[in-house]
Amino acid sequence: MPDRYLSFTGTAPGRFLTRRLGLPQPAPLRRWSAERPALPGGLLHRTAGKSDLDLAPVLARTGLPVTDSAERPGAVVLDATGVRDVEGLGEVHAALHPVVRSVAESGRVLVLGSPPDPLDTADPAGTADPAGHHRAAAQQALEGFVRSLGKEIGRGRTVNLVRLTDATAAESTLRFLLSPKSAYVSGQVIEVGTGEVTAPDDWDRPLAGRTALVTGAARGIGEAVAGTLARDGAHVVVLDVPRAEEDARRVADRLGGTALALDITAADAGERIAAAVPGGLDVLIHNAGITRDRRLVNMDAERWASVLDVNLASVLRTTDALLAAGALKRGGRIVATASIAGIAGNAGQTNYGASKAGIVGLVRSLAPRALAEHGVTVNAVAPGFVETRMTAAIPLFIREAGRRMNSLAQGGLPADVAETTAWLAHPASGAVNGQIVRVCGQSLLGA
Ligand SMILES: NC(=O)c1ccc[n+]([C@@H]2O[C@H](COP(=O)([O-])OP(=O)(O)OC[C@H]3O[C@@H](n4cnc5c(N)ncnc54)[C@H](O)[C@@H]3O)[C@@H](O)[C@H]2O)c1
Repeated sequence: MPDRYLSFTGTAPGRFLTRRLGLPQPAPLRRWSAERPALPGGLLHRTAGKSDLDLAPVLARTGLPVTDSAERPGAVVLDATGVRDVEGLGEVHAALHPVVRSVAESGRVLVLGSPPDPLDTADPAGTADPAGHHRAAAQQALEGFVRSLGKEIGRGRTVNLVRLTDATAAESTLRFLLSPKSAYVSGQVIEVGTGEVTAPDDWDRPLAGRTALVTGAARGIGEAVAGTLARDGAHVVVLDVPRAEEDARRVADRLGGTALALDITAADAGERIAAAVPGGLDVLIHNAGITRDRRLVNMDAERWASVLDVNLASVLRTTDALLAAGALKRGGRIVATASIAGIAGNAGQTNYGASKAGIVGLVRSLAPRALAEHGVTVNAVAPGFVETRMTAAIPLFIREAGRRMNSLAQGGLPADVAETTAWLAHPASGAVNGQIVRVCGQSLLGA
């Protein structure tokens, strides 16, 4: 279902008319392609407060020329990790106020902050750092700042906050956010820890020699995820229900992968997946999902159970089975699929919202344990409105509202979710764990 409004506002009369009427002004997003793999313009590096990050060598490897000219930069990176108080926040304003207007269309503003201090139980009164709450206030202020700037910056530009302590551990994350691959990721706060990071031999094919399985990959977002992981070098197992076997085989053939016809709700799905990948799995993408919408008063038990089973119970069952069987290799990656409906809630989707919120709970709880016990990270993507058959089936006016109600004023594409998934699946993303990353253009729902 093409977005005709976006095409219309791309024309001169369309722009004129919609501006006069005060209607949303979506800008065509610059997405990744082999021909145009980088953002336009250079990278402007600014600092607020006194930073201990060794950032410059990592920024130099992002593919954007680091520049000191504020003229149309493709990206501005503000290192605010050293901001400790309200005065320091003044430096954030001073650094970005003069340059924000000149950031290129589809450019990036990336703010770097510090993770919150862990609760110090040995020092409940906080006497070791009596100014800790000033620092915490200033660092939390960055979140409100980023989310607000994301809502006003316009012209396809995105604004995100990464909390980190080690620039090298965050290299895959910085590369992703400073590239066209993150076109539809805005208003997000991502925490990068200090987990084990493996830099790939070739950043263009980081998954070479690895095996990835994507559920629900015969079409839609799953098909795009499979394609992106294959582009990054993975051998991809394309799993889908037996009735979609022909499509799954077509996708697998195109990608040089393997098709696996399997209903993910089968009690022994985990064992059958393990048997299909005797060499083990490096990447497991839980993408399969269904909707059976009704308001709760009209929702029968079957609608409830089928959605909870596909979207949540089967994810829990297969994850448990594959981890227990040792089928996920050390350094492995699990990426599950939540939804903004699981964060904000959505009328008519109590079953779907519950299942997707369950994914958030699963990821947060399992992530530290899976990393400690299996060396596997667990994260989720939470798509907003993405143009697929699932959303094409939504009635026109609700669909149109879904498309516009985000800071970028347009729907995302399956490729946007796929690129985000590929970043989380990256061997150098070992320090990204337990994160729920919304791919929603900063949706007004659940922001
Ligand atoms: N499209 C959106 O806007 C959007 C928004 C938020 C979240 N999501 C989530 O993204 C994921 C993909 O969505 P989509 O829009 O591509 O959906 P889609 O309906 O186009 O594709 C889903 C695929 O999953 C497969 N599938 C369904 N049940 C299965 C089962 N029991 N076993 C194996 N495969 C099964 C289907 O056959 C289909 O190929 C889903 O988890 C969905 O909830 C989508």
